[in-house]
Amino acid sequence: MLRLDNKVALVTGCGSLGEGWGNGQAIAVLLARQGAQVFGTDLNEAAGQRTADIIRQEGGSVDVVVSDSTDPAQVEAAVAACLARHGRIDILINNVGRSEPGGPVELTEQAWEDQLSVNVTSAFLACKHVLPIMEKQGGGSVVSISSIAGLRYAGKPQVGYAAAKAALMQFTRTTAVMYAPKGIRLNCVVPGLVFTPLVKRLADKYAGGDFDGFVAHRHRQVPMGHMGDAWDVAHTALFLAADESKYITAQEIVVDGGITAATR
Ligand SMILES: NC(=O)c1ccc[n+]([C@@H]2O[C@H](COP(=O)([O-])OP(=O)(O)OC[C@H]3O[C@@H](n4cnc5c(N)ncnc54)[C@H](O)[C@@H]3O)[C@@H](O)[C@H]2O)c1
Repeated sequence: MLRLDNKVALVTGCGSLGEGWGNGQAIAVLLARQGAQVFGTDLNEAAGQRTADIIRQEGGSVDVVVSDSTDPAQVEAAVAACLARHGRIDILINNVGRSEPGGPVELTEQAWEDQLSVNVTSAFLACKHVLPIMEKQGGGSVVSISSIAGLRYAGKPQVGYAAAKAALMQFTRTTAVMYAPKGIRLNCVVPGLVFTPLVKRLADKYAGGDFDGFVAHRHRQVPMGHMGDAWDVAHTALFLAADESKYITAQEIVVDGGITAATR
């Protein structure tokens, strides 16, 4: 089940900043465990290399390049490097994303632009260069990591992030319909509150650095009583990437312990 032998997977933001598993890191490691040849990108060389080390220690196949997912020339070069290395790209994971607090009054114009750039333009740029490759091959699977913030207000004032993640989902649905006849599927994983190293940085941004209080508050917000972890996101991404989900396209799978159902 869910084997990815002989498949090449391009994973953006494959590193993790801080202690513990990040989503992109867990996805890259899980895809490699399932047999994929992973080609990761990351802005931060050391973060990307840590993921590469884990995969190599487990006997998996991995290359990591430094690349900024918001820079058109760097994205084009990273896709070309993956193609040059493996001759094909079967799976694209658009993982890069980041939130910035603030409403329309508080967010600077630059911060608004940055939110759109890192959360949705990054996926647009990767698709621009990967979809023609998948089309030539006759198929492929694109999985983008969105957020429940793109579906509803989930307790944090972050209009740029919410708007960008909503845009990412509609970008995915529309592109999926266009590419369905070509055998290329596009779907989103939609995580809720996930206990990743990002939570430490979020506590600094949203709770004045009160990490324990912020963590307890996030656990309490979830009907299941606790946040999810990066593996919950990674297993869902694996399912959408693998052939077992071959009839699923233009969809979102929400991974949130019940939050969105409880706040309809
Ligand atoms: N942690 C959560 O609670 C949560 C919830 C919902 C959605 N998400 C989404 O999950 C995704 C990533 O989560 P994560 O835990 O892997 O995040 P992370 O912050 O750990 O970042 C992963 C990697 O991305 C790299 N990165 C950042 N900007 C980049 C860029 N412009 N180009 C290339 N690499 C870049 C970082 O260096 C890092 O190594 C994001 O899209 C985020 O919005 C997270």
